[in-house]
Amino acid sequence: MLSAVEYCHALLRERLLPGDLALDATAGNGHDTHFLAQLIGPDGKVFGFDVQAAAIAATRRLLQRWGVPEGCYHLIEDSHAALAERLPEQAQGRLAAAVFNLGYLPGGDKSVITRPETTLPAVRAALEWLRPGGLLLVVLYPGHPGGAEEAQVLRDFASGLPSRQWQVTEYRTLNARQAPPAVLAIEKASPESGPDWEI
Ligand SMILES: C[S@@+](CC[C@H](N)C(=O)[O-])C[C@H]1O[C@@H](n2cnc3c(N)ncnc32)[C@H](O)[C@@H]1O
Repeated sequence: MLSAVEYCHALLRERLLPGDLALDATAGNGHDTHFLAQLIGPDGKVFGFDVQAAAIAATRRLLQRWGVPEGCYHLIEDSHAALAERLPEQAQGRLAAAVFNLGYLPGGDKSVITRPETTLPAVRAALEWLRPGGLLLVVLYPGHPGGAEEAQVLRDFASGLPSRQWQVTEYRTLNARQAPPAVLAIEKASPESGPDWEI
């Protein structure tokens, strides 16, 4: 079985094409930003948000170490809740993918965690900015304090999205002894979404 992050990356690998635009809503140590940058190549662009200066610096260092050209990424030290104000207008309705890898910065300050009161508005805004056929992925961590509540808020929101416009799935282990990470995937309908779209 794939881990939650591996599953997320497998979906992105299938979906993203060179030249696409993508959002990493929680840049952290930069691994997801780098993964997105690799998939979309020199003609694409990845926008990376994080509230912590240390995370933005770590992400920049990782991208530089891997030789990702500067024009291929834009890192923003701010909450993802401000994405509609901070992303360039030309990106509206053009994001091929948005990734929210929730929780705290591994190896960093564990008191700085994503919270439903900012994560939910950010997810709503990011869905607006997706292009038709775009994919929003949330890696949920119900195992840390506050994580289960945040996961439930997002599940409740996503379950209520109208099925004509959105397809929502969840990938999670059913027989784990502790609360394992899970992936919530929300796909925006495209003109090519066939008759099987509405389940
Ligand atoms: C699990 S880490 C992300 C891992 C990262 N994607 C990677 O590949 O290394 C979660 C990150 O979310 C950030 N974060 C917390 N609240 C945030 C917010 N409101 N907006 C943006 N980032 C936030 C934390 O600072 C932390 O770096």
